[in-house]
Amino acid sequence: MTQRTITLVWAQDRAGAIGRDNAIPWHVPEDMAHFREVTASHAVLMGRKTWESLPSRFRPLPGRRNVVITRSDSFEADGADVVHSLAEALDRVADHEVVVMGGGEIYAAAMESATHLRLTEIDVLVEGADAFAPEVDPYAWDTAVTGEWLSSTTGVRYRFVDYVRHTRG
Ligand SMILES: NC(=O)c1ccc[n+]([C@@H]2O[C@H](COP(=O)([O-])OP(=O)(O)OC[C@H]3O[C@@H](n4cnc5c(N)ncnc54)[C@H](OP(=O)(O)O)[C@@H]3O)[C@@H](O)[C@H]2O)c1
Repeated sequence: MTQRTITLVWAQDRAGAIGRDNAIPWHVPEDMAHFREVTASHAVLMGRKTWESLPSRFRPLPGRRNVVITRSDSFEADGADVVHSLAEALDRVADHEVVVMGGGEIYAAAMESATHLRLTEIDVLVEGADAFAPEVDPYAWDTAVTGEWLSSTTGVRYRFVDYVRHTRG
């Protein structure tokens, strides 16, 4: 049986921070374009806090099946499927390629099922961060692509790094 592709996509600072006060603490439009490319036409899975962090004009993310994970029985998300576990989310979109788009709690839960990681390293150090990426265990993951360091139009340095789960031959 072919293994299902489950991709996690995130951007992190030099210390692995991904968020502060339920927002992304940098502005790198090139990374937003990368995110759109990675998620295009796929199902996107996210935690309730990440859903709420999206500006309402971008919710649901267009052209993609949006799935929001919450423990609440009453939470509603217009234009998205609401589910109560990662397993239920994966079942709900069994016919789609899946991209997990955060945040920290959902990345941690999804890491063991992930087959691909699409990271953006942002060359900043965020003070007061309160959401973090999971560890990328070098024994579990092979680096597939390490991009050149680039400069955003906003002046921030960033690079793209892709991983695939190590397969033992
Ligand atoms: N840099 C990036 O690439 C990136 C990407 C995405 C998000 N972010 C940032 O990450 C931060 C949000 O991350 P976060 O870790 O605070 O929150 P999150 O993972 O987005 O959402 C957490 C919520 O998901 C639900 N949840 C978590 N585990 C669950 C489980 N096992 N079963 C059912 N529901 C579960 C709970 O919702 P309920 O409380 O409703 O039960 C929980 O409060 C924000 O700052 C956001 O901007 C950054």
